[in-house]
Amino acid sequence: MHKKYLFEIDRCIKGFGHEELSAILPGAKPISNAFSIFEGTLEKEEIDRLGLIRSAYEVITSSLEKDFLKAIEHVDWKWYYNKDFSVRKDRRFNCGFKEREIADAIWVALKKQGLNPKTNLKGASSELFVIKEAGNIWLCKRIWQRRSFEERMPNNRPALHPSSIHPKIARAMINLSGIKSGFLVDPFCGSGGILIEAGLLGYKVKGIDIDGTMLGRAKKNLEFFRIDAILEKKDARLFDEDCDVIVTDPPYGKNTKLKGSINELYTSFLKNAINHCNVIVMIFPDFVDEKKIAEDANAKIDKQFVYYIHKSLTRHICRLIPF
Ligand SMILES: C[S@@+](CC[C@H](N)C(=O)[O-])C[C@H]1O[C@@H](n2cnc3c(N)ncnc32)[C@H](O)[C@@H]1O
Repeated sequence: MHKKYLFEIDRCIKGFGHEELSAILPGAKPISNAFSIFEGTLEKEEIDRLGLIRSAYEVITSSLEKDFLKAIEHVDWKWYYNKDFSVRKDRRFNCGFKEREIADAIWVALKKQGLNPKTNLKGASSELFVIKEAGNIWLCKRIWQRRSFEERMPNNRPALHPSSIHPKIARAMINLSGIKSGFLVDPFCGSGGILIEAGLLGYKVKGIDIDGTMLGRAKKNLEFFRIDAILEKKDARLFDEDCDVIVTDPPYGKNTKLKGSINELYTSFLKNAINHCNVIVMIFPDFVDEKKIAEDANAKIDKQFVYYIHKSLTRHICRLIPF
């Protein structure tokens, strides 16, 4: 059904959550740093796949603070209420009303509409949230909350490797690639962090790595999550296979077993890879000139996000398309 939804964005990487959301739900628009809004129909699988969305809410009503209690009265409550309700204010996005005041106004509105109001502070069938954001107060029903990624964190996989990125970032990168169905390759797959998320989302996946020990780790991890992936030991600079998208996190530090410089590795890889797929989502360290590397490889960066790791390392998550 056509409705209005608010999405609370995980702001660990500025702008990335908003962009991930609009890659999955075209038409979603930021209303602030912390929230995006979407009007339309929403499938559960669309929200379940998101990495950088913390919560999703269906909007019941929104208004300026001065009109809020009136707006509550005008809601057609039969669509949002069946047995009982609770009201919670999100203290981070706090409005001037007390929870009690809002609950009283809802109670009166329900009574007027003949709906037998009941409050229930534990597990009410209508859990309502009040958020103040972008100059308005939003009364919403929470419809989804992100599940923890704990079970898939690198330290909880059978084969641990510290260079693996957080699963929520891997997911957001996959979503940013815009892949709908088909074949995803990670040519610097390491212990398989990106492949795990892509496999769980149902794509055909392949991992390439120059290091056999790393591929062994990836194999163990993928088997643990029952993901059927193709793995190949190869230098990513020789990339020559057609696929839909490449999503990858190449080596970026000084301790990697690299022959030649990072610049040379990235440029050689991209020169080949960009001719074999529609989109590449890839992370660069901030000490390389990714724009020049992309240009030299006949590719164009069309999206870029700054990913702060620690004070001596910032990385750039980029989406590249052929020129
Ligand atoms: C940052 S790690 C990848 C981390 C990975 N996303 C994970 O979840 O473990 C980079 C990987 O690139 C591999 N690598 C380095 N040079 C390579 C090359 N020329 N071709 C293919 N893989 C390479 C390294 O062995 C390492 O496993």
